Amino acid sequence: MTARPRVLGALALTSVIALTGCARGCTSSRPPIHPNPSMDDQPKVLPQTASTFFYDGASMRQPVPGTVPIGGLKEDAAFFTGKGADGQFVATIPVTVDEAVRERGRQRYGIYCQPCHDARGDGKGILFQRGNVPTASFHQDKILKYPDGQIFDVITNGQGLMPSYRWPIPPADRWAIVTYVRELERKRLASATGVSTSAEAPASAEATAGKPAGNK
Ligand code: HEC
Repeated sequence: MTARPRVLGALALTSVIALTGCARGCTSSRPPIHPNPSMDDQPKVLPQTASTFFYDGASMRQPVPGTVPIGGLKEDAAFFTGKGADGQFVATIPVTVDEAVRERGRQRYGIYCQPCHDARGDGKGILFQRGNVPTASFHQDKILKYPDGQIFDVITNGQGLMPSYRWPIPPADRWAIVTYVRELERKRLASATGVSTSAEAPASAEATAGKPAGNK
């Protein structure tokens, strides 16, 4: 018989083609064949996956209550919250204010506050100019009477229409900004009483073109 070897040959050929055809470049939803089971394949939990093992259904565990991340111990309440042990806002900035802190405050104010509160703190910034959004003036009685800790708190938690700047501005910079806000207020008061006018920060042309100052 000469037919049998030919049939067998054809079979072998087709199976080789069939095997090699899908050996590479083929996708499958089934797990790959793993002739040598190793640690690549083992039961394990992947981050952010579900779990039937734990009661809460999550594979990841919560940190032990009271866990403090490295650098996360915030014992100095006044520095981190603006409030003293009695829960009241601290009257004055709880950091030593030197020239570097003042300069940092002036610079951070320019970045984070000036767009809305303007260079002089009259609240005639971009929100007011473009959207007529009432933006607080730092020179109104209410804010002048705020303890330093309360200004810190407004930056940290936001207030009314103003968003919180807790994450973009670290606490030390928030205090530096408070220093600068107080400086703006002092200069305005001084100029109002005729002591000094030259020191006030110059407002840009657009910042002053709006409604008359005050905005209480
Ligand atoms: C996106 C605009 C915007 C920015 C930026 C902004 N503010 Fe304000 N701020 C406002 C508006 C609007 C109000 C008025 C909020 C209200 O009364 O609803 C306000 C109010 C305040 C008040 C008065 C809060 C009160 O109790 O009445 C203080 C103080 C203040 N801002 C400080 C700051 C400081 C300091 C910065 C910079 C870190 C800053 N703001 C950045 C828009 C802004």
